[in-house]
Amino acid sequence: MIGVGKIATLGEAVVNMNEDAAIREQLAYYRARAPEYDECFYGQGRYDRGPQHRAEWFREVRLIEAELQPLVQGKTVLELAAGTGLWTKRLLDAGAQVMAVDGSPETLAINRDRAQSSHVRYQIADIFSLRPSATVDVVFFSFWLSHVPSHLFNDFWDMVHSALKPKGRVFFIDEQQSAACEDVPASGSGIACRKLNDGREFQIVKIFYEPSALEQKLRKRDWRGRVRCSGTSFFYGVVRHVSD
Ligand SMILES: C[S@@+](CC[C@H](N)C(=O)[O-])C[C@H]1O[C@@H](n2cnc3c(N)ncnc32)[C@H](O)[C@@H]1O
Repeated sequence: MIGVGKIATLGEAVVNMNEDAAIREQLAYYRARAPEYDECFYGQGRYDRGPQHRAEWFREVRLIEAELQPLVQGKTVLELAAGTGLWTKRLLDAGAQVMAVDGSPETLAINRDRAQSSHVRYQIADIFSLRPSATVDVVFFSFWLSHVPSHLFNDFWDMVHSALKPKGRVFFIDEQQSAACEDVPASGSGIACRKLNDGREFQIVKIFYEPSALEQKLRKRDWRGRVRCSGTSFFYGVVRHVSD
């Protein structure tokens, strides 16, 4: 007879297998989505939710920029999942020296065009096997944490820690579940279906966090700091490791 413990372990193994398949598919999705990625940020096409929504969205973006600017000015920053450079550009404008990492050459090509800066270097790499070769003052990632499978959460944060200089900080941004327009993970699965403009569908990892629950989860992993909502669309966190 199979015991309850074994069934739970088998269940976990199946979830992990599904999430591992989804992390491969989500990279394929973002590679294919590169030319249309910015439509979501700018509220264009099928992401257009009206002028009021756009105004609130950019009010929150400005609020987060104001928090980010003093933290990164004159600092070295490792940006994970840098994408098309919407935030790389903001880091550079704030006076940071950036190492921008992403698994998609297509998004980094757009990033390079947007940034047009000698203060950024690029690396095409899989974040789940990334071993940072240098340490930085700040690790930054936007709209990435929700794509990290639950079983890789701890490994991801260990990698982030390994990339930080003593007294380094982590700054991250993500979307609030109530504001997300297209992700409806099947209950408890952490997997959602995303569509491109041409109708192609992809399974991706999507794990929503409630800010105070995430703050507590990080606290248990020895990260201290705050995770706050900027309004109705985003939350952002600034944390440091207790060992520093
Ligand atoms: C939601 S986008 C965020 C992009 C950018 N940070 C922003 O705020 O617009 C996620 C990014 O993660 C990248 N990505 C997906 N899987 C990856 C992986 N395994 N390793 C590295 N990058 C990955 C995608 O190419 C995409 O650019």
